[in-house]
Amino acid sequence: MRIINRTNNLRGMLRVPGDKSISHRAVMFGALAEGVTEIHGFLKGADCLATIDCFRAMGIEICEKDKVIYVHGKGLHGLSAPTKILDVGNSGTTTRLISGILAGQAFPSVLSGDASLNSRPMGRIIRPLRLMGASIESQKGDDCAPLCIEGRPLKAIHYDSPVASAQVKSCVLLAGLYADGVTSVTEPALSRDHTERMLRSFGVKVVSQGRTCSVTPPARLKNQNIEVPGDISSAAYFIVAGLITPGSDLIIENVGINASRAGILQVCREMGADISLLHQREAGGEPVADIRVRTSRLRGTVIEGDLIPTLIDELPVIALMACFAEGETIIRDAQELRVKESDRIAIVSENLQRMGADIVPRDDGFIIQGGLPLHGSRIQCSMDHRIAMTFSIGALNAEGPTIIEDSSCVDVSYPDFYEQLDLLQK
Ligand code: S3P
Repeated sequence: MRIINRTNNLRGMLRVPGDKSISHRAVMFGALAEGVTEIHGFLKGADCLATIDCFRAMGIEICEKDKVIYVHGKGLHGLSAPTKILDVGNSGTTTRLISGILAGQAFPSVLSGDASLNSRPMGRIIRPLRLMGASIESQKGDDCAPLCIEGRPLKAIHYDSPVASAQVKSCVLLAGLYADGVTSVTEPALSRDHTERMLRSFGVKVVSQGRTCSVTPPARLKNQNIEVPGDISSAAYFIVAGLITPGSDLIIENVGINASRAGILQVCREMGADISLLHQREAGGEPVADIRVRTSRLRGTVIEGDLIPTLIDELPVIALMACFAEGETIIRDAQELRVKESDRIAIVSENLQRMGADIVPRDDGFIIQGGLPLHGSRIQCSMDHRIAMTFSIGALNAEGPTIIEDSSCVDVSYPDFYEQLDLLQK
């Protein structure tokens, strides 16, 4: 639990931890490569540590020295049968991506996570993997984990995904590494493309054309040195904090601004934010910049369609930002929020209403009338890291103390979140 009070201004520079999506992939692809892959800037959050744990249980040596992670890859066919049930914790990314890899192995495995993870939909990966000839069963028959996978030879397919999900796309592409020909996926809107970029850097032939990408099964993956940029999903809390807290001027250094992830920057600009990108450069095959934000007068906007997958994890904190904007903000086409670590449409609406905001939940988003002052309240996070961080930023701009229950869940993606927040207020 944390008690957070209103703050005056936030000024200074900070670095957010490494990107969660990229950290997961670096461990997974490193394990399948030949030789040692070095990962700099790895996110040591609970989710990515779960990925490390799973690969260690399949015989991969992974160690850390001077903040660098070394993954001793054993090649595409070098994993061994797990010594235990693979514990994926709270991590949807671990579950869905690793399932694609496990489907093509020569051994059986079982994946299970915490209560939240074991209630999230896995039918979205079970269906395409079965089309590829995989044997994958939901233990309770409810399309959720625990999942039992028997490795099999896989058929190449073209998959038309009904959902714009990088986890589904990546699962199919990873199974495609073990298939008997070229596997391709078309998605209804472009989701984050870290898998495609990183597989290419490991020497795999991946072709992207519009909303379709395809993978050719490689003979091998070449080990890499990977530099993980700061996570824009973690930077989002400080971007919004800087924009809504009076008298603020913040620079967030070394943030990944890959267009398939950076929708929040576009939304901030449309809302009239004073936000600029400094020192734009490339690191580890991903575009990176320092982001400067200053307190701004914001106006409402509409967020919908193809933009949604590019800011899906930032929508809770964007909804908070909309409470500080003049006029109406509409967020639609975001029904995926219902099946994240919590039902984020319900939980964001309930908590913001409790703080005095005018927000109406819809099946696929929210309607928010900005401008009402927020007051401190008791916030229930459902152990969802992004909810705890969103409402901690809200608390800095509310009258009276806010109590964040289960605040330790920030460990999932941002273990130092509260230390950094405290430092900025000194
Ligand atoms: C992720 C993809 C997104 C995102 C999640 C991480 C990834 O999920 O919400 O936090 O690393 O591929 P979906 O692909 O299910 O939208």
